[in-house]
Amino acid sequence: MSTEHYSDILVIGSGVSGLSFALKAAQHAKVTLITKKNKADTATNLAQGGIAAVLSVEDSIDDHVQDTLISGDGLCNEEVVRIVTSEGPDRVRELMEFGVRFQMQKNGRDFDLGMEGGHSARRVAHVSDLTGKEIERVLLEQTAAHPNIEILENHLAVDLLIASKTTAGRTGRAGEDRCLGAYVLDRTSGAVEIRRAHITVLCTGGCGKVYLYTTNPDIATGDGVAIAYRAGAQLANLEFIQFHPTCFFNPHIKNFLISEAVRGEGATLLNQEGKPFMQQYDPRGDLATRDAVARGIDAEMKKSGSDCVYLDISHKPTEFVKKRFPNIYETCKHYGVDITVEPIPVVPAAHYMCGGVLVNHWGQSSLTGLMALGETSCTGLHGANRLASNSLLEAVVYAHRAAQRVPKILAKLRNLPDCGPIQAWKTGGAAILEEGILVNHNWDGIRRLMWDYVGIVRGTKRLQLMRERLDWLLKEIKAHFYDYLLTPDLVELRNLAVVAELIVHSASWRKESRGLHYTLDYPHKDDIHYLKDTILHKAERPTFM
Ligand code: SIN
Repeated sequence: MSTEHYSDILVIGSGVSGLSFALKAAQHAKVTLITKKNKADTATNLAQGGIAAVLSVEDSIDDHVQDTLISGDGLCNEEVVRIVTSEGPDRVRELMEFGVRFQMQKNGRDFDLGMEGGHSARRVAHVSDLTGKEIERVLLEQTAAHPNIEILENHLAVDLLIASKTTAGRTGRAGEDRCLGAYVLDRTSGAVEIRRAHITVLCTGGCGKVYLYTTNPDIATGDGVAIAYRAGAQLANLEFIQFHPTCFFNPHIKNFLISEAVRGEGATLLNQEGKPFMQQYDPRGDLATRDAVARGIDAEMKKSGSDCVYLDISHKPTEFVKKRFPNIYETCKHYGVDITVEPIPVVPAAHYMCGGVLVNHWGQSSLTGLMALGETSCTGLHGANRLASNSLLEAVVYAHRAAQRVPKILAKLRNLPDCGPIQAWKTGGAAILEEGILVNHNWDGIRRLMWDYVGIVRGTKRLQLMRERLDWLLKEIKAHFYDYLLTPDLVELRNLAVVAELIVHSASWRKESRGLHYTLDYPHKDDIHYLKDTILHKAERPTFM
């Protein structure tokens, strides 16, 4: 028997989107926020660069719009780009009012703005190279103190509760299904709870763990995208996985990012022979957009057979480097690289999911009662390649917009007929999964295969091979899922496999190269056939799990 809990709003995830939405929505309703590990285990906490917004008189919204559109390579929704860039500056100032200590210039009035690839002006507000950590700290403090917010750690969403699966069947308008909350695994007790809510908001971040090398934290297993898909919500643009060009290459530390802001402050990429190379690949050189830089590095590594390239900022004054990048300086030093005197070994790594759960201008998905924010969502801002530091911006702008919509949505949903009892999570005759190897083996296999076959450079044959392997893996994982009692690892593995399949499916559909999707078999852009989003919906693929 599952325990049943109720709140007006269920937020899943405790990064910047989840926390800032919860804080604002709590003015109108009771919010339960669940997070699958500790509340600070988020991608936000690792964000170094900062938040892009027009905060200087030398910059303009039009320029920020243009830079975003160029980076997005034809697939941004211009209306969304205008909304986000215009509303962004107020959201940044609001974060300051909450207590975020952005770095200011000596006059104390003007922001100290950073530069990053693809931007035509300095516009990245930052807290040295620990911006995400500072934003997370402030938002956690604020949400913890709010009487209308309950935060539950170690609670992992398994699947959404769907009206069509209740005893009363479909409700609402004819043909319209509805999300009623989520089945949630309490990691401490092992029980699967029913968490009912009028509004459920997916803020589970991205899916970097689908790849062998990633800058993402361990929690980034694509949970929100996988559960939204299984519930019947529309997804978009999952082939556009952004590889950050510069992840620290060191066997002792995983996922440590060397911020793009380092190149923004004049660092140069060097090949194995110590020679700059980016100019050969793109006239914008080291500050080209991320898709171009990651491909340039990939080509250079393949050409020389080397395991990494190098990023050199040692020509800058030591005091400047230490003050501007204290976290990067200390971490690299700890692992034997003094960045003030020697270049940093770097490799590209999976960093950001530009697609996600398709949402409207207010963060609402195609499934009534379900919203998605931040990296989990696809708003139309990023198109085929996100502009650096536009993600924290999108998160705070959409969290604000979604919270503004809450009273209207709640009023509508509270008036719909009750759907009757929700079925308890069925465990059947499931046994305890004692052989962790069943999970680990598949997990490692997917990540390695995705890296080799669906990485920075793709091809039809590799995609086909990946599909064949995934078909087989998905069958096995599905069997495990029903044969064994749920464990967090099994839930995450299932999500990872689903997201991998969705990426491969989307990448196979797009027979052209655009933004982050580059395929050797179709190396050019094809605006006639593919100047559109890649929309996925379970109803159109009935055989898939
Ligand atoms: C970075 O600091 O390079 C990461 C920022 C981002 O991904 O936008």
